[in-house]
Amino acid sequence: MPMRLDRLRGEAAEHYRQQILEHLAQPMHGTKVDAGKITTSLQSHSIWLDCDTGHDDAFAILLAARSPELRLLGISTVYGNAPLENTTRNTCAVLEAIGRRDVPVYPGATGPLQREACFAPGIHGETGLDGTTCLPKPTAPARTDKGAVEAMFDALSAEPPGTAWLVAVGTLSNVAMLFNRHPELAEHIAGLSVMGGCIGDGFTKAPLGTIDGRQRRGNWTEFAEFNIYSDPEAARFVFSNPTLSRKTTLIPLDLTHQFLATGDVKFGLLFGSQARMRNEPDLSSVSTVRRLFFEVLTFFAKTYAVMFDLRAGTPTHDPLAVAVIFRPDLFYCNSDGAADSPQDERFQLEIVSEGQHGAAVESGEIASHCGQTIAHAVPAGGLGVRIPRGLNDKALWGLIESCLSRTERHIGLEIRGERREASGTQPIRQNVDTGQEDMVSLVRGGNVTLSEFEASTGLMPDIKGPMKDKGGKFLQTNKEESLGVKPRDLSRSESEQEADDDAELVNFIKK
Ligand code: BDR
Ligand code: CA
Repeated sequence: MPMRLDRLRGEAAEHYRQQILEHLAQPMHGTKVDAGKITTSLQSHSIWLDCDTGHDDAFAILLAARSPELRLLGISTVYGNAPLENTTRNTCAVLEAIGRRDVPVYPGATGPLQREACFAPGIHGETGLDGTTCLPKPTAPARTDKGAVEAMFDALSAEPPGTAWLVAVGTLSNVAMLFNRHPELAEHIAGLSVMGGCIGDGFTKAPLGTIDGRQRRGNWTEFAEFNIYSDPEAARFVFSNPTLSRKTTLIPLDLTHQFLATGDVKFGLLFGSQARMRNEPDLSSVSTVRRLFFEVLTFFAKTYAVMFDLRAGTPTHDPLAVAVIFRPDLFYCNSDGAADSPQDERFQLEIVSEGQHGAAVESGEIASHCGQTIAHAVPAGGLGVRIPRGLNDKALWGLIESCLSRTERHIGLEIRGERREASGTQPIRQNVDTGQEDMVSLVRGGNVTLSEFEASTGLMPDIKGPMKDKGGKFLQTNKEESLGVKPRDLSRSESEQEADDDAELVNFIKK
């Protein structure tokens, strides 16, 4: 029996209802875009993504792998949010979850060019991607036939000159090694897009959070952003290259803190078109992939609220560095950060690599400017790095929502016993009652979880109600698995089971 909102009671139900009503009142795609201003070309862009997969990197992967305007050549991983082994595993798992295990993943640097590595378990958890029960085990391992730097070079240099983009959303260690070993690549690529740095001093009006009650500009130290602070020498090397700098776009915290995953955004992503089509979205028919990204944002929101006292929504940094490549019209490069002003600002970047670096600086015991990003404005008409100051957040969240819908269509989404297949426009009706037993025995017999089964086959056994396997053991339903709870006991009465359902849903919402 599907869980219905009208069976929920108390404060949690009211809170939940309110959030949904507000979301419905402001549909994500409600933004009117002036067609005359859209400069996007319909051509596709080839990109290589370099990331340290944590929570926001997962969104960068989703956008890179599921936007029809982009051709994702491959992904290199770097230490950062967690050690390299974890960021690589997380990358493969996210690709698995979105049905793109065909994208080659190459593990890169385990640490900075000349310093000790630092990680961010306080923000992303020990695994680098804590807080979700919906992440499948990757079935396609990372590649080891060549190193990450050679893989990046081979893929990017094989594209026609001036067409391929490199997107970096972690520390710049891999990227620095790439251009150090292959300087000619700087001329060859179309551009470099980097999430990193923070400018501060009123560069934008975005709140950057507080540190011991004082305003801060950085998120790792008072002055520095995590990706740049982690390997300041690498950042300095990359940004001081004049050929690269004129084709670089920087997405700093001053911009990403305008791209907030508010409650509306999160529930919009969780329910997708269901939220727009139904009065009462039904949680039991939400796909695993939507739950995954919802849970990722929920975890990220908690750490940002605790660490930075930012409660309006989580800044979702990394996907912006991907979006700016194919939707530059949604980013505003002028001193007002406004859509209507001329898109004319360029900067020269200076990275501070002097000063203390390490635990005492990170804990705030010692003040140091190491890792700070300083942007010097280039006189009008000059060449330099683009740093947008404003963006169209609604339209950008809309792009992400579309990627989730596309993913669902690709991996197949079960809705009340109907199976939608990747390419078919018509849902293929499948007799889930008779087909189910086979799938269930595959899951049990093969000793794989439902998510693993779904990720590797694109099919999802429809285990909605309590069922026993041949040995009389209760099977875990899809919902139970995604909520991380134990299989339900059939001996309980219907009303006891309903009470369980309510409690599960309330817990899920409160998470
Ligand atoms: C950056 O640091 C990492 O924690 C995030 O993934 C993002 O790339 C934000 O400072
Ligand atoms: Ca990152």
